[in-house]
Amino acid sequence: MVHITIIAGSNRKNATSTQLCRHLQQQLENMGCQVTLLPLFELPLPFYRPGVASDDANVAVLVKSLREADGIVLATPDYHGAPSGILKNALDFVGFDEFDGKVVLSVSSAGGAVGMSSLQQLQTIVRNVHGVNCPEWISIGGEQRSFTPDGSPADDKTRQRVQRTLNFFVSMVKTFRKIS
Ligand SMILES: Cc1cc2nc3c(=O)[nH]c(=O)nc-3n(C[C@H](O)[C@H](O)[C@H](O)COP(=O)(O)O)c2cc1C
Repeated sequence: MVHITIIAGSNRKNATSTQLCRHLQQQLENMGCQVTLLPLFELPLPFYRPGVASDDANVAVLVKSLREADGIVLATPDYHGAPSGILKNALDFVGFDEFDGKVVLSVSSAGGAVGMSSLQQLQTIVRNVHGVNCPEWISIGGEQRSFTPDGSPADDKTRQRVQRTLNFFVSMVKTFRKIS
């Protein structure tokens, strides 16, 4: 069984990046994965303080879920061409122990066409915690940020592109974790 943890990095109710994460969770479960979705809007974290051990229950949930994951999805709204502050703050609580050798898929939602810069910055963070960047990523932007009532991307091509990327991501996770 492949365990995937998804961190939805928006602090906005009904965020499109979080809606996309719920679709990713559904599709990954359809592919036989066990998925934990951590929407940071519903899992508020304190500000990271270097050198001060945290006894916060939500931090413990974040750390445990990432440690148990075979593969990780990081999703962010594109803020000024960068990942959201709350996602970066969450990632500051973790590091090699949670990411080393694990395949990570980066996902963004942008007002413009593509959240290229926020995706690249997420991949830089992943590299620095020794995660393995999935070479495919998912970006929704502009009109692609609408969803059907059942939670799927409304645009056919976006839905197909998301599924192709998930197929690639899961096969990479299985290869790196030696799961058949
Ligand atoms: C503070 C802030 C900065 C933003 N900066 C950008 C930006 O640089 N480029 C862009 O395309 N969209 C930008 N946007 C628009 C968001 O990326 C867009 O609305 C996105 O879909 C929000 O994701 P969400 O629905 O998950 O909250 C910005 C929005 C906010 C609130």
